[in-house]
Amino acid sequence: MEPGAPLLFFDSGIGGLSILGPTRALLPHAPIVYAADNAAFPYGTRSEGEIAARVPALLGRLVERFRPRLAVIACNTASTIALDHVRAALDIPVVGTVPAIKPAAERSKSRVIGVLGTEATVRQPYVDNLSRDFAGDCTVIRYGSAALVELAERRLAGDTVSKDEVVAAAQPLFEAANGAEIDTVVLACTHFPLLADWLEEAHPGVAFVDGGAGIARRIDYLTKGQPWPDTAGDGIAVFTAPPPDTLRPALEKFGLSQIKTL
Ligand code: DGL
Repeated sequence: MEPGAPLLFFDSGIGGLSILGPTRALLPHAPIVYAADNAAFPYGTRSEGEIAARVPALLGRLVERFRPRLAVIACNTASTIALDHVRAALDIPVVGTVPAIKPAAERSKSRVIGVLGTEATVRQPYVDNLSRDFAGDCTVIRYGSAALVELAERRLAGDTVSKDEVVAAAQPLFEAANGAEIDTVVLACTHFPLLADWLEEAHPGVAFVDGGAGIARRIDYLTKGQPWPDTAGDGIAVFTAPPPDTLRPALEKFGLSQIKTL
């Protein structure tokens, strides 16, 4: 294993930064390539067929170009639809991001949990299976929101986004039948932890959980004993279409100082 072989993170946009953050905290010297398929953003309103065809092909190209030691699909939509296809297409370990329903069910006292994801994610059989296997005695209320994804992108790009807009976009989850009893919400889209501060302020009795820390531990485990460079290098952000310049400060905060287009 080359010390310089990077970890490859993949999302439709900037959501995967919520997975990259905890990973960098645990593995500060890991070389990073962060890939965003912004040409096809948002994934959440696309069909299963489109995502299942696009994601493995794109990851194949990225792996050929950057030779990562491991790939992270830092996107719930792509993972719940295409994880098996990606694993079949690549010969490196692939870590997926799937809704954190198990930890949510473990901590819920009211036994009513919310799953806030994209429209595509919340309708997946993968979510049915997680709910059945790990939250069988809970009422699981799902809500898919494209507006929240857009708001997270805009917030990271430095646009004016208000807390009220974010809270209003998530409100249908709490207004659904039994929604007032929700005590735990799974942030089942990697964009949403980037808005969690506002959601937590608006819902003080509710815990918002996501998979970021667990995925970081999984990456640490899978790379145990592998060499890393002696210092943290400049991370690379790769986009499938030219990104707005206004994203640069947010990318730099996550160590991504080189910006490229695929
Ligand atoms: N960040 C993605 C997810 O975790 C998808 C957002 C989108 O492109 O709709 O599902």
